[in-house]
Amino acid sequence: KKVGVLISGRGSNMSVLIEAAKAPDFPAEIVGVLSNRAAAPGLEIAQQHGIATASLAQSKFPSRDMFEDTMTQILESWEVDIVCLAGFMRILGEDFVERWRGRMINIHPSLLPAYKGLDTHARVIADGVTVHGCTVHFVTPGLDEGPAILQAEVPVLPGDTPETLSARVLVEEHRIYPEALRLLASGSVSLE
Ligand code: GRF
Repeated sequence: KKVGVLISGRGSNMSVLIEAAKAPDFPAEIVGVLSNRAAAPGLEIAQQHGIATASLAQSKFPSRDMFEDTMTQILESWEVDIVCLAGFMRILGEDFVERWRGRMINIHPSLLPAYKGLDTHARVIADGVTVHGCTVHFVTPGLDEGPAILQAEVPVLPGDTPETLSARVLVEEHRIYPEALRLLASGSVSLE
């Protein structure tokens, strides 16, 4: 299966997907990385791996639909079967989500359905919650609402800051995202 990764920034999840897909028995290859920010550091990492990249600023398009149609055209030009959102910081419209239904997954830094949206680590600490984690889920029209494929838990420790907690969660993100992609690409999970 051919995979396109959508990023906005650092690209550490993208990087672990690229590394995992190099294994000969991995059922997917990363064929392109698309960013909505030209300055995303992840673009350069992808290029160093010889992977096609593109960046598109939504502000340059007259509407979100036209921006997303252009993203779909680029993904189709790469013959993408599966889309992985990896720190893509834009809410996607229903047409785009439906276009990739069952074939688009996201990594979210919380144990969904708890803590949808932004700033999950700070909100978890503020609430005094003791268990946190991350989720790879199918993307459906509701924000952070699609069915989970894999989750991993981490403890929230006394004295944690959003930075220390996010670093602990990120280790688990990097473990479960390639595994969830493997499950989807091999047909072991599907969206009803
Ligand atoms: C990750 O924590 C991801 O869960 C969140 O944004 C961050 C992206 O980090 N949605 P990176 O770009 O993959 O390093």
